[in-house]
Amino acid sequence: MCNFLFLLALGVPQASETLTSSGVFLLQMGWGDLGAFGEPSKETPNLDQMAAEGMLFLDFYTANPLCSPSRAALLTGRLPVRNGFYTTNGHARNAYTPQDIVGGIPDSELLLPELLKKAGYINKIIGKWHLGHRPQFHPLKHGFDEWFGSPNCHFGPYDSRERPNIPVYRDWEMVGRYYEDFKIDLKTGEANLTQLYLQEALDFISKQQASQQPFFLYWAIDATHAPVYASKQFLGTSQRGLYGDAVREIDDSVGKILNHLQQLGISENTFVFFTSDNGAALISAPKQGGSNGPFLCGKQTTFEGGMREPAIAWWPGHIPAGGVSHQLGSVMDLFSTSLSLAGLQPPSDRQIDGIDLLPVILQGKLIDRPIFYYRGNELMAVRAGLYKAHYWTWSNSWEEHSKGIDFCPGQSVSGVTTHTQEEHTYLPLLFHLGRDPGEKFPLSFASEEYQQAVERISGLVQQHRATLVPGQPQLNVCDQAVMVSWCIFGLALSPPIPPHAGSFQSLY
Ligand SMILES: *[C@@H]1O[C@H](CO)[C@@H](O)[C@H](O)[C@H]1NC(C)=O
Repeated sequence: MCNFLFLLALGVPQASETLTSSGVFLLQMGWGDLGAFGEPSKETPNLDQMAAEGMLFLDFYTANPLCSPSRAALLTGRLPVRNGFYTTNGHARNAYTPQDIVGGIPDSELLLPELLKKAGYINKIIGKWHLGHRPQFHPLKHGFDEWFGSPNCHFGPYDSRERPNIPVYRDWEMVGRYYEDFKIDLKTGEANLTQLYLQEALDFISKQQASQQPFFLYWAIDATHAPVYASKQFLGTSQRGLYGDAVREIDDSVGKILNHLQQLGISENTFVFFTSDNGAALISAPKQGGSNGPFLCGKQTTFEGGMREPAIAWWPGHIPAGGVSHQLGSVMDLFSTSLSLAGLQPPSDRQIDGIDLLPVILQGKLIDRPIFYYRGNELMAVRAGLYKAHYWTWSNSWEEHSKGIDFCPGQSVSGVTTHTQEEHTYLPLLFHLGRDPGEKFPLSFASEEYQQAVERISGLVQQHRATLVPGQPQLNVCDQAVMVSWCIFGLALSPPIPPHAGSFQSLY
């Protein structure tokens, strides 16, 4: 379970013709977690203010209902099935980068910071990377100039002998480990990490502003990812419990970052985007997981709750305040939009799935484009306009379900939230998301409405498949030697376990 706040900060200084932009990306927060999206306790005044001053996207999607593939998609502008962030070990299995993963982001992929570098940007990632741990996958090898954070989720504590605690890096150097040097108190939920990440962001922005340096800041924090945490001043302050405390601290931090941009006089040169990498993890709810509002199921699934995300664009003086957009958007669009803002062309030697959202953001246009919902190696569903066709349905296996693991707690819809993988290729299940945002009432196969919508979507699927060149799957193999290589002691004592096919717990 991965939680993170992603501040996509792409910048150029105020004196420059070009612009600075920055963005927020929050991990594993759900569509329904913000006051601006109807969360009943209304505890996110800063994010709500950000929405009031900027543009709210109501139909914005991540590229996969799990963290690693979504982040790879965000930074490459490409679906995980193209950039390699998927597994072929099991049909429609989501996969991520556990500690012992062998794969990672391939060198052949061009990441947003690599491209922005060409336009003189300084790029920083704060928080969780999640695109591989081996040296060749280090963020500083893929376009980032600075890093403060960890390669993985803050799972643990581990014994740091058999299994090391997750390391924390400053640039190339490992500066400590979670639970040891960077404390997370699982009993009280107290950790100071969000405060550390906030300070890193403020310092980085100040430094770039002082040297009139365009910057891209990717603020990838993970307080809302189980095990959820907050610093002392936020503990016990939310009606929603510890998860709400974490959300409040993130909200407070976003407010401080936006305020900092304003005080430095660079808010009009900075494009900020706030979103999440997957839907709230309902398996952890209500104590450690958030809300997906009216949508079906959560993280890990290709129902709306797994992939529709809260999203806010903020750019004072450019984006009209109080805007609301129904554009079908994707995290991959942040790649294309950022390049466009920086005056760069997207790479022409490969398929890019993101689109440039500037006409939407600045002129209120609507661009017709489909959304592809993948789970692992399988195209599960497609949205076009208000229609969504499911080609496959699956929540999770009976085996997992019998152990109490439920991706759709309290939300079973007969024939839809199936515990066996059900193929509907020849007769897709169709929903009208305007009349039925919760995906509860499939349209009648015999209706004219069904036939017209499915015909249109089938055409889009054919086109998509015809041009699809799947990447080499990066998430197939785990090897404990990869994990042990981080360990500062015990190397000689623990013989590496031979490589084995990764068995990816669908929990994360
Ligand atoms: C957080 O920081 C405060 C102030 O420095 C300190 O007292 C507290 O022990 C820290 N908490 C954790 C969990 O590290």
